[in-house]
Amino acid sequence: SIVPVILSGGSGSRLWPSSRALYPKQFLRLVSDKTMLQETVLRLDGLADLEAPIVVANHEHRFLVAEQLRECTEQKCKIILEPVAKNTAPAIALAALSLEADGRADDVILVLPADHVIEDVAGFQRAVESGRSSCVAGKLVTFGIVPSAPETGYGYIRRGEEVSLGVYEVGEFVEKPNLETAQVYIDSGAYFWNSGIFMFTAASYLEQLQRNEPEMVEVCRESLRNASDDLDFIRIDKDEFEQCASNSIDYAVMENTLEAVTIGLDVGWNDIGSWSALWQQLDKDGNGNVLRGDVMTRDVHNSLIISEKKLIACLGMDNFILVETDDSILLASKERVQEVKKIVEEIAELK
Ligand code: GDD
Ligand code: MG
Repeated sequence: SIVPVILSGGSGSRLWPSSRALYPKQFLRLVSDKTMLQETVLRLDGLADLEAPIVVANHEHRFLVAEQLRECTEQKCKIILEPVAKNTAPAIALAALSLEADGRADDVILVLPADHVIEDVAGFQRAVESGRSSCVAGKLVTFGIVPSAPETGYGYIRRGEEVSLGVYEVGEFVEKPNLETAQVYIDSGAYFWNSGIFMFTAASYLEQLQRNEPEMVEVCRESLRNASDDLDFIRIDKDEFEQCASNSIDYAVMENTLEAVTIGLDVGWNDIGSWSALWQQLDKDGNGNVLRGDVMTRDVHNSLIISEKKLIACLGMDNFILVETDDSILLASKERVQEVKKIVEEIAELK
């Protein structure tokens, strides 16, 4: 059986001011009338042997998670609440350990970020199906995207030999290389972007994590053992989990393991990592604009303008992002949107 493990603990600060610490992007209706978290759950519908999802999220978001899941599924989801964010390696470990505790260490986990867009759901499900047997054989499956630019915010996967139809050995996994290196990878034509979606048995993941971060596994095991488990949530013990090192699955496991394989995912994947990625994703008008709310423009092109409350009028400008919310306004050049994260950090320091 396949157990989806949905990672919903990120802060999404590059989509400020719509995405907030208390209301990050996975809970927003960005590309449809469903939130990103709900889209993530719904695109699994129809997979064979599918179990109810485990959602790993921050304690502060427990009501958002519970309510949004209730809205979109009748399954009884397991919600694991982290008292502090320790990145993805411990988050996945908690889910894997909870399966182990239930005697289900051999179940296949499908790790899904809660904030991605996938256009071709059938293609996505076919890729997942084709990864099953590798997982049962103890492999860690990654899903690779054919890259279109030397992005430095992604992991890169070098395709090795084909081990079975459409499944390749991972020659090398490099998380977030610098621009120069990323360009070399792109030019070589031998690399995928890492989609951030993974599949393996709980046992295989824990074994690989144990090799590189044995203490992390121990701390997570203790944190789960001391968790309080009520009807709705598994609340991870704070005193214990605070001791956990912070690391991502990419650095802690994928860069080091010899057991990784990769499957190509050509399904209209977008991780909506920035405002320009959202603009890219959405339908545009004849001027290349995406306009939401009360907005009027003249001689404006290739821009994203979102108004929540005020009338926004724009004149004679191209290639920008303008987002108005209750208490803040962002105006940015479309080329600089990666830096919104830094601005948000500066704002947080000022406050
Ligand atoms: N529960 C939980 N706890 N979830 C978390 C935490 C945490 O502490 N930190 C991050 N997440 C969730 C995020 O909400 C997101 O859904 C997912 O885990 C991935 O985290 P990101 O912080 O968005 O990672 P990234 O975008 O920098 O990099 C990853 O994704 C890229 C593709 O989008 C890596 O896997 C890269 O290699 C990959 O290319
Ligand atoms: Mg991301």
